[in-house]
Amino acid sequence: MFLVCLLNWYFSKFHLSYFIEFSAMTAMALKDKAADLDKKFKDITRRDRFLIPKLNGKDTTYLCGNSLGLQPKQTRKYVEAELSKWSEQAVEGHFKEPNPWLYNHRQFTKYAAELVGALPEEVVIMNTLTVNLHLAMVSFYRPTKNKYKIIMEAGAFPSDQYAIESQVDFHATKGGEHIFEPKHAIIEAAPRKGEELLRTEDIISLIHTHKDELALVLLGGVNYYSGQYYDIAEITKAAHQVGAMAGFDLAHAAGNLPLHLHQRQVDFAVWCNYKYVNGGPGAPSGFFVHQNHFSDRELPRFAGWWGHDETSRFKMEKGFKPMYGAEGWQLSNAPILAMAGLKAPLEIFHEVGIDTLRQKSIELTVYLEGLIQAINLEKGKEIIKCITPKNPEERGCQLSLVVPGYGKNLFEAISSDGVICDWREPSVIRIAPVPLYNTFNDVYDFYEILKRHL
Ligand SMILES: Cc1ncc(COP(=O)(O)O)c(C=O)c1O
Repeated sequence: MFLVCLLNWYFSKFHLSYFIEFSAMTAMALKDKAADLDKKFKDITRRDRFLIPKLNGKDTTYLCGNSLGLQPKQTRKYVEAELSKWSEQAVEGHFKEPNPWLYNHRQFTKYAAELVGALPEEVVIMNTLTVNLHLAMVSFYRPTKNKYKIIMEAGAFPSDQYAIESQVDFHATKGGEHIFEPKHAIIEAAPRKGEELLRTEDIISLIHTHKDELALVLLGGVNYYSGQYYDIAEITKAAHQVGAMAGFDLAHAAGNLPLHLHQRQVDFAVWCNYKYVNGGPGAPSGFFVHQNHFSDRELPRFAGWWGHDETSRFKMEKGFKPMYGAEGWQLSNAPILAMAGLKAPLEIFHEVGIDTLRQKSIELTVYLEGLIQAINLEKGKEIIKCITPKNPEERGCQLSLVVPGYGKNLFEAISSDGVICDWREPSVIRIAPVPLYNTFNDVYDFYEILKRHL
């Protein structure tokens, strides 16, 4: 009965319908509940379109889309089609149908833009994430003697920290002249003492505190460690109010939740396509520049021939003329085999729609959260602490679990029992039920396995 009450409270906080339903349920009925919810979302779930890794001949409980998404069954066919094209057409493949390689990147633009809420001309698929982060900063971090600071998250993903630090060092002196002091340039937004999450009001307040020197606010969309989803609209608005740019690393947000980048006036964003987008290990990255910047001729950028005006690219002339929109930031011709990995998942996202997926995602993660709390209740204390925001509006699908003193051992135990998730130092087990291919039953299986090892 306690369990039922707790679940009722939990679900009712954000889902009134669950409150009514769960009030009549026993703990044993939770598995049936999973089956009911899987039925409810059966038209959204595309599990049958993905390859699920197996352990001892049985599907694993794969909850690791936050690290590497699964392979769509169709991907092999699309990669093989490019291999065949290469073997049959060789260099002529650049110009010949089907899908001339010259325009290869463009086949992804519409669906990738749809996924992140952008205009097609604001998006291009190219390079890898950290490379794109640097390219975006070349254009949007233009520090001066007075305006040179960057606000970022304390404990951001290391690659972001290194990219930002190296950009700051790069700009701090010019021709031997000292422009600004690098050690004062990076402002880290951190949770309050004793808290795990960043408060939007604290980020905004930091923006206002540093308003006169602030050049850029650069945050993750969803924090890789805590799973917190930042208020992109409010942060962008505040950055613009003080004349700073707003950019986001959407590695953990793209394909996870709707982002509305165009509408929210985000200046730039970059993301990887190997996590929630399921484009394959090291898949080419996404790059977004807001239309507001297209006509800015002063915007510096690092150029390459693939960003040059397509109509004169092969004239091999001096003088870089950028293509219109995000495509003008391209450097190189596209890595065709790697790009092929993006075709199937983007088609699936287009078919289902990120807004629809989000509805299932919210319920899937709330269900997971409810089961974690059920374990705590059974044990009579909070042995598993979830540091991810409780409000579904402030998170994607990932929950970050902390089990003091036993976290790493628990992670290893459940891994050997068929759960695929990940461990992030110093103390988090990340669990990400992905609405495209995970089911409520997967989450229930995870709960059973977890209980066995506690
Ligand atoms: C938030 C974030 N930023 C940057 C990176 C680095 O990505 P890449 O190796 O594709 O450059 C990752 C990788 O997981 C990440 O999670």
